[in-house]
Amino acid sequence: MSDTLQLTADGRLRHLLSIEGLSKPLLTDILETAEQFANSRNSRGRKFPLLHGKTVVNLFFEASTRTRMTFELAAKRLSADVLNLQIAASSTSKGETLLDTLKTMEAMQVDMFVIRHEASGAAHFFAQHAAPEVAILNAGDGRHAHPTQALLDMFTIRRHRPDFSKLTVAIVGDILHSRVARSDIHALRTLGAKEIRVVGPRTLIPAGIEDMGVTVFNDLDSGLKGADVIMLLRLQKERMVGAFLPSTGEFHRDFGLTRARLAKLPPEVLVMHPGPINRGVEIEGDVAYGERSLILEQVEHGIAVRMAVMAMILGEDTRFAGTARGDSERSTMDGRAGAGQ
Ligand code: CP
Repeated sequence: MSDTLQLTADGRLRHLLSIEGLSKPLLTDILETAEQFANSRNSRGRKFPLLHGKTVVNLFFEASTRTRMTFELAAKRLSADVLNLQIAASSTSKGETLLDTLKTMEAMQVDMFVIRHEASGAAHFFAQHAAPEVAILNAGDGRHAHPTQALLDMFTIRRHRPDFSKLTVAIVGDILHSRVARSDIHALRTLGAKEIRVVGPRTLIPAGIEDMGVTVFNDLDSGLKGADVIMLLRLQKERMVGAFLPSTGEFHRDFGLTRARLAKLPPEVLVMHPGPINRGVEIEGDVAYGERSLILEQVEHGIAVRMAVMAMILGEDTRFAGTARGDSERSTMDGRAGAGQ
């Protein structure tokens, strides 16, 4: 359903709800557009006028640090006006429904909503009910999808290991509750990763996940053997109803990435984590900020990737990505590329 809802008739992005259903050429196009933004010598500070005159609203019904802030930075660097609805202080607390919140904000002539919600399918719901000129970006819905996280993860991997066909990727930890894992698996498959592994205790691996084209490991050392990239996941205690683990200490002993464990792996292995981390649970603090960790690169790349997605949906011409306002005689205030670009 997402592919028909999130793509235009000619296959361009209309909304971004899920990685599922996006083609390899489209994913590659997003990553290459993000490269343009990331490589621009003006990507820090100065603005691109692609979304000048557009209004973007961040609606985060769940907590977030990096996703919300990098969406806001991305929109501002594209010259959009950005509003952040403070959910706890909004009329949601008086019982206003999601649909009525959408319609109310649409009346303010909003062009794009970035939504995070605890319910799987919330972004789809918004997209189904949004006015034709309004775009919806999914910033994480329940256990379902976190598409921009997967895109920034692919962007980060590609910068270090451009050939996905040679990659074995081990996704480790709480697979069951993870929207990041689902979106990363779809993205890795679409980009042609050689092998995708999920590694964790039986209680945290969803039944039937092999159907997504992954291999399951319940032993960390076996799962990491031969892996090029290790993607660790946070234990999502807020989504756990009942006891999934004897203790976090036991999880750390069996599935935590420690310096000692990492020292046994080849030095070129890359370590990733979408954040926020549980220090001393799925990862030791020294490993999180050690020389093999890409965690802070992932955060930084979130800005360029989110700029790319927003510009591809709302911008007039992403060929403009290499030129910031005032950076070239050919730049124009309305966001259109100058002649010859
Ligand atoms: N990775 C991620 O979604 O982090 P936040 O919850 O801080 O946005």
